[in-house]
Amino acid sequence: MDDIPGQLCIQHDKNNLLTGAKMLSSTFLTGALHTFLVGILCLGGFVTLFFMYYKSALDCTPQPHYSKQPENRSLSKQPEPDKPIMLLWFWPENRRFDFSDCATFFNIDGCHLTDDRSLYNKADGVLIFHKSIKYDLSNLPPSPRPRFQKWIWYHVESPTNTIRIPGLENLFNLTLSYREDADIPVRWRLTVRKGQGEDFVLPKKDKLVCWIVSNNNPATGTGVRHKYYRELVKHIKVEVFGKAFARFLKYEDYYSTLSSCKFYLSFENSVHKDYITEKLNGPLAAGTVPVVLGPPRQNYEDFVPGNSFIHINDFPNAKALAEFLLKLDKDDEAYLRYFQWRRNFSAQQHLVQLSQEFTQAICYACDHIGKHWEYRAVHDIYKWYFG
Ligand SMILES: *[C@@H]1O[C@H](CO)[C@@H](O)[C@H](O)[C@H]1NC(C)=O
Ligand SMILES: *[C@@H]1O[C@H](CO)[C@@H](O)[C@H](O)[C@H]1NC(C)=O
Ligand SMILES: *[C@@H]1O[C@H](CO)[C@@H](O)[C@H](O)[C@H]1NC(C)=O
Repeated sequence: MDDIPGQLCIQHDKNNLLTGAKMLSSTFLTGALHTFLVGILCLGGFVTLFFMYYKSALDCTPQPHYSKQPENRSLSKQPEPDKPIMLLWFWPENRRFDFSDCATFFNIDGCHLTDDRSLYNKADGVLIFHKSIKYDLSNLPPSPRPRFQKWIWYHVESPTNTIRIPGLENLFNLTLSYREDADIPVRWRLTVRKGQGEDFVLPKKDKLVCWIVSNNNPATGTGVRHKYYRELVKHIKVEVFGKAFARFLKYEDYYSTLSSCKFYLSFENSVHKDYITEKLNGPLAAGTVPVVLGPPRQNYEDFVPGNSFIHINDFPNAKALAEFLLKLDKDDEAYLRYFQWRRNFSAQQHLVQLSQEFTQAICYACDHIGKHWEYRAVHDIYKWYFG
């Protein structure tokens, strides 16, 4: 049970009341001759009782504000009384979606998700998107902040692409990040297949190596992958798509395009531990072999089986990788071995529409707030994040 802290709280109150009652009865034993004294003691007992009750009320976070018998609220915009409220303080990059998508796509329905800032004082969680915070902090939620409220630092970029805004170090209660050691880690994960999965049918392939890349800005750390790409194309043909190559791909065509390629370049924009994005999930879901550039192989193997991808570090240089891919292209048996993991695991298609870019993270935050009631404070967020 996740609401145990709340129950302990109620228990705690009862104990204080009992102690108070014992103290009261003992004061009456002093007899009728000490009426005055009794009066004082009684008063003292009540004062003690009051303070004990008051103190324990203060101690208890969260308040069980979700009562067992909720009052009848007929206004549909009112938060549901038995669910904690999570307030989305900024819409990330103004990509709006319908909050009911959390139930639709992730079966998450444990909080009342809202962007209505008038609910701030009631909000159990406030999700704050790092990239939207102004450098002078002027657009952060107001003070004082309700004592039961948790602020969530929402940042899914890598340190290379992070502006260190001063003053945020000790404000947050929870972290939401691609990092596995965040309070709310967000990524697309393989799921374990139960029982006998259906036999995998390899999608038809008419391209060898593909790459979809929208961001070509070297300031975001993409220099490494571009250098590697330029070296690779000297030895093997790569079909490129995306903004960076002015060859746009419709979102509807994402999975079918990926499926039609034997290999896909899952090159992250910068190299950091755990920074393994949907660029890996996409080809796995589409039935394509990812060729990864990112953290070391071992880190990838924390998330997917070692025989589901090819790591550029497995080869001394881009030429050797190209030769290996060309060899696999002619060896169906060896190529198909990269799909053996599918007998035991399955990859889910991630959401690809632009408006859905932040849906998963926001839903996960909602799920966390709906399940966790414990006290938490994050100290020196940048020390944790930048290491
Ligand atoms: C709640 O209020 C609505 C509207 O006043 C009413 O129709 C409904 O029967 C009420 N439900 C309960 C459980 O009292
Ligand atoms: C799948 O799981 C079975 C049973 O746990 C195991 O024997 C087999 O080696 C696994 N296959 C792959 C490809 O990992
Ligand atoms: C949240 O974090 C702040 C800042 O560290 C702290 O003062 C506050 O007590 C924390 N609240 C909860 C509910 O965890």
